[in-house]
Amino acid sequence: MSEEIIDVQESETTENLRPERRSEKIIVVQGNKTLKGSVTVSGAKNSALKLMAASILGQGKTLLHNVPHISDIDVMGDVIQYLGATVERDGHDMSIDTTALNSLETPYELVSKMRASIAVLGPLIGRFGHARVAMPGGCQLGARKIDMHLVGLERLGVTFTIDHGFLEASAPKGLVGKPVLLEFPSVGATENLLMAAVVAEGTTIVENAAREPEIVDLANMLNSMGARISGAGNADIEIEGVTLDALHPCEHTTVGDRIEAGTFLAGAALLTGPVTVKGIDPAFLRMAIMKLEAMGATVVIDEAGITVSREKPLTATDIQTLPHPGFPTDLQAQFMLLAALAEGNTIITENIFENRFMFASELARMGADITIEGHHALVRGVKSLQGAPVSCTDLRAGAALVLAGIAAEGQTQIHEVEHISRGYEDYVGKLCSLGADVHYALV
Ligand code: UD1
Repeated sequence: MSEEIIDVQESETTENLRPERRSEKIIVVQGNKTLKGSVTVSGAKNSALKLMAASILGQGKTLLHNVPHISDIDVMGDVIQYLGATVERDGHDMSIDTTALNSLETPYELVSKMRASIAVLGPLIGRFGHARVAMPGGCQLGARKIDMHLVGLERLGVTFTIDHGFLEASAPKGLVGKPVLLEFPSVGATENLLMAAVVAEGTTIVENAAREPEIVDLANMLNSMGARISGAGNADIEIEGVTLDALHPCEHTTVGDRIEAGTFLAGAALLTGPVTVKGIDPAFLRMAIMKLEAMGATVVIDEAGITVSREKPLTATDIQTLPHPGFPTDLQAQFMLLAALAEGNTIITENIFENRFMFASELARMGADITIEGHHALVRGVKSLQGAPVSCTDLRAGAALVLAGIAAEGQTQIHEVEHISRGYEDYVGKLCSLGADVHYALV
């Protein structure tokens, strides 16, 4: 059955179209293209979300720069406004005034839209000694428990109860700094602990802390607000508690998005380049760059940025996802795509999220040869992919499918593209500026 396809701009929503035109927004990709040119990445989604949450501790007007225009940021804006703060945007600047913040509750309606809403738990406890946050459920990536957030905060004196789907947190006697050993270097648990421990009495040491660059960015902002955190970026982070009054709002610039950067670098390796990626510290991407070189790409790092090109065929290289500085799970789909078109067999091991191989079935629709066995994927390289209708199974899978479409023979139609807008600002526009033929359409 043939479908009518109507081209639209990214900014157009289906709501503002005539009723007879209300339908699904998809991305249409013409294949057999290369990518060439330069692209500047936006501020990191995973940083900006937590910086917004940290503003709760500032009790006044925080100014954030380099905040990406993506839908997850809009949801966090709704969460903070629901709590009683004022959020204003001007381009990539955002001001958050938390002076009048008066609610301690984050509803299910918002938490179910975005799990990262749980990041307000630590700062709410830090500021008010109480919080009521809807329990996040599972998501496409798996069960995604928050037990480590809770065990860590309990060590600092917080008690938790579950009430009709809400997590009620209470620390009536205030927080007391302690050593907290995390079972796993969880990004979210480390962040919630940092944002509560900054106002604990005494010293907290988070051991086996997450070492992601976004943790360092958050610690830098908290320190600009008057907190005393040292060691962020290492496995042990020391937080010397200060009084809440000692914290004040600040001005802070979000670090560049290493996952967006890694996506374009993978795209360049796939589609021969050269593509120069700007706005990112190359040190954030050492493992990804190492794998690109192992797969046959040439990587040059200089003042212009990170430039990737490829003249020889892609070659298979095994990959396992691990906490930073290991290979990031958020780049696993993009590199599975490279493996799908590489000479030889690649084993990809996913150690972070149990359900992160759903992308493989979509890529198989385009001709990839992938066998999944538990948390291992065996990717047997094929010569080419064919354009096909496919669906985004999550944000990063969505970004990878667009790249797959650019490499494939013929046309690819990508469904459920709202996943992509959660984390990539103007992905379609940036790819077009590199020479891709990609556009939004309604079917
Ligand atoms: C963050 C990032 C996400 C990235 C991930 C790992 C944001 C908004 N999201 O997610 O893009 O893929 O880091 O780099 O920053 N876990 C537990 N119990 C807990 C906490 C985590 O079992 O209390 C498990 C999770 O289910 C998951 C693993 O630990 O399997 C890693 O989770 P975590 O590092 O916390 O990731 P997020 O903060 O959710």
